[in-house]
Amino acid sequence: MNTNTRKKCLVEFQLAEQPLRPGEVAIVGAGPGDPGLLTLRALMLIQQADAVVYDRLVSPQIMELVNPGAERIHVGKASGCHYVPQEETNELLVQLATRQRRVVRLKGGDPYIFGRGGEEAEFLVENDIDFQVVPGITSAAGCASYCGIPLTHRDYSQSVTFVTGHRKGDQSLELNWQTLAAPGQTRVFYMGLHNAPTIVKELTAHGVSAKCPVALVERGTTPLQHMTVTTLDDLVETIDREDFQPPTLIIVGEVVQLAEKLARPAQAGWNSALAGPAAAHAGRRPA
Ligand SMILES: C[S@@+](CC[C@H](N)C(=O)[O-])C[C@H]1O[C@@H](n2cnc3c(N)ncnc32)[C@H](O)[C@@H]1O
Repeated sequence: MNTNTRKKCLVEFQLAEQPLRPGEVAIVGAGPGDPGLLTLRALMLIQQADAVVYDRLVSPQIMELVNPGAERIHVGKASGCHYVPQEETNELLVQLATRQRRVVRLKGGDPYIFGRGGEEAEFLVENDIDFQVVPGITSAAGCASYCGIPLTHRDYSQSVTFVTGHRKGDQSLELNWQTLAAPGQTRVFYMGLHNAPTIVKELTAHGVSAKCPVALVERGTTPLQHMTVTTLDDLVETIDREDFQPPTLIIVGEVVQLAEKLARPAQAGWNSALAGPAAAHAGRRPA
């Protein structure tokens, strides 16, 4: 068997495996936006589903790959304004499954990383609904790679921490700042725009240099990617000046300086959107 045939067989095998059963829910990670970052299993499931419950972070390009005959139900959440309360989404999944639909709950990034996938899975278990979970590429991994930022690097960063920049019900951002300020690490703040002043204040108060490089990445891996490198000192001003909006990640650590060398817009697959000097801006929203 030549290499091409072997590859084709592997893809066909992946696409044919594990059919989604009536009455089952698949909680599926859609990755950060670029459809090229979907897993084969995610693709197979969205093509089999007859109901897809999706949120705001699932890109339109990925929704184009969904079974055209499937019912599409948007339960998207914008920060601070929930279109459909979580409890209603949980109930909806149970109702669809009880009606013997083959349900995909499609979520941005990875369902179990700041995605409430755990809460939804718990609810399904409590209601005796069969389910499976398909991991996705979390936005930290996808966006960092597309922006030329290795999240770890032997010379700069020996660990990486994914941190929420937003607490349930707008509680104050109480994190272990001492640990987050330790040197030799990369911190990736999800949902951190609103609390950026606290992030700067606490990290610098606990010993991180005000000159520490920071990357802001909005809508990473999509044609609307907007990425800027700044410093902790200038973070809040940069967010205001460049009008960063959710979904945005804040990456803090020495690895960010590598973006200047490693950002390769042409390789990201979104040439037109990412064109421009790689140094400070690896991608911008089209004007
Ligand atoms: C509710 S969390 C969901 C995270 C998702 N489960 C994941 O694994 O990436 C939403 C936050 O993820 C980040 N995010 C998700 N997709 C993103 C993208 N394409 N570009 C930048 N940030 C993104 C933003 O910080 C956004 O506010």
